[in-house]
Amino acid sequence: MKSFSVAIDGPAGAGKSTVARQVAERLGLTYVDTGAMYRAITWKVLREQVDPSDELAVTRLAQRTKIDIQPTDIWVDGVRVTEEIRSPEVTAHVSAVARIPGVREALVEKQRAIAQTTGVVMDGRDIGTYVLPDADVKVFLTASIEERARRRYLEMMRRGFTADLEELKEAIQRRDEADTTREHAPLRKADDAVEIDTTSHSINDVVERILELCRTKV
Ligand code: C5P
Repeated sequence: MKSFSVAIDGPAGAGKSTVARQVAERLGLTYVDTGAMYRAITWKVLREQVDPSDELAVTRLAQRTKIDIQPTDIWVDGVRVTEEIRSPEVTAHVSAVARIPGVREALVEKQRAIAQTTGVVMDGRDIGTYVLPDADVKVFLTASIEERARRRYLEMMRRGFTADLEELKEAIQRRDEADTTREHAPLRKADDAVEIDTTSHSINDVVERILELCRTKV
């Protein structure tokens, strides 16, 4: 029997990971942060000084990389990279790596394999449209650009990075533009996804709304 799956997509900083993690906990499902997988490959690309625009080299690197995503930690070939993959440098390059079809193929295969063995709450950009088109519940989370930049700013401060709000806003807009306009599995709301604008809603409200959607499906 197919396991229960919840797909949560949306642009950068809309609150996907916080919300997805809590929904997974409440439903006893596995949380899968697909953005962390693209970040993990990007971290290794930068570390090995591979040119991010060299599609063949980056694809080969993705194919031979072992990524282990645990609820609280991410490992690349046995190295713990939980904090490193959130660095501004990785964030600045991740969309260029994520647009490469060979990278996406390698990671989507892993994502689908996880969803076949266990119930998941998976967050990303293409989960409802491409990775899990038959997901039981599909949500598209949005928020205003100002609010998303403000959240990213607070998160950066908490992680000990310095940040400029205006620069963050521009970086988010650049990343959304790249993710929306790429050829392969771009960021897009699935036709059957429920759109939730989180700008003026608490995390708790959004989590409850998604749990309600899940209850109607079981
Ligand atoms: O979710 P997060 O902001 O960590 O994602 C980092 C980047 O990974 C995105 O900007 C996007 O380029 C890429 N990504 C993707 N498809 C996914 C998840 C993330 O292309 N399913």
